[in-house]
Amino acid sequence: MKIFKDIKELQKELVPYEKQGLSVALVPTMGYLHEGHLSLIKAARSENDKVIVSIFVNPMQFGANEDLDKYPRDLKRDSKLCEENGVDILFCPTVEQMYPQNFSSYVDMDNITNNLCGASRQGHFRGVCTVLTKLFNITKANKAYFGQKDAQQCAVVKQMVRDLNINIDIIICPIVREDDNLAKSSRNVYLNDDERKAALCLSKALFIAKTMLDNGEKYSQKIKDAMIKEIQKEKLARIDYVSLVNPHTMQDLDEIKDEVLVALAVFIGKTRLIDNFLKGCI
Ligand code: PAF
Repeated sequence: MKIFKDIKELQKELVPYEKQGLSVALVPTMGYLHEGHLSLIKAARSENDKVIVSIFVNPMQFGANEDLDKYPRDLKRDSKLCEENGVDILFCPTVEQMYPQNFSSYVDMDNITNNLCGASRQGHFRGVCTVLTKLFNITKANKAYFGQKDAQQCAVVKQMVRDLNINIDIIICPIVREDDNLAKSSRNVYLNDDERKAALCLSKALFIAKTMLDNGEKYSQKIKDAMIKEIQKEKLARIDYVSLVNPHTMQDLDEIKDEVLVALAVFIGKTRLIDNFLKGCI
């Protein structure tokens, strides 16, 4: 596995890939890799000639009061995991490489970013779209792999590549969970023992929603009320949002017809966790 910090050097390495017509996968991450990331790497490995993993804690997608400074980082461990999982190239640029002085161009999006995480994390998706556009352009990857846990991010990226005619396939992989159903996340390391237990209220609330939907419940408000009731049993939990939305547009649904994304964001202590499930989508 080769490691690059420099954009130009990475691009030099990629020239023969293009000449030989090799298929290139990109797995964009912010590092501190867990099994969710590894499932993306494994999918990418099985479907492409070359696999690039990027690790970049993107300052542009963090709000002023968010966890940019304390976001967990362990490049040594991450590079070992990448190597063990057959990654060809690890790209870990510096902030100066990605955003040199006088950087002034951004990719922004309306509508689909107005709800859910986009509503509570102002500017977040502008940061995500900008960095991904750069990573797509730098690597010229044929496919990029994302986890369903960030459901809105998945919809936003698909919309962006459609709107801007970016020539890349977006592949979405299922959520990977701990044995007790907590969705894997780099932010889980922030949780102390009590918080770790409390964090199960997210998957419990989703299970309640799933059961109600399976039993034919059509009204979002009833499902939301039941989910909120479940989460409020947990003293350490503070709800950011509990929403039932159209999985493509991210707009709220009052009544559920076929497809629905049930998504939630909950603070457990100071840690903001998200989780979701999709019903009716393939
Ligand atoms: O999901 C993430 O880790 C980040 O939002 C991403 C896609 C790597 C962009 O910085």
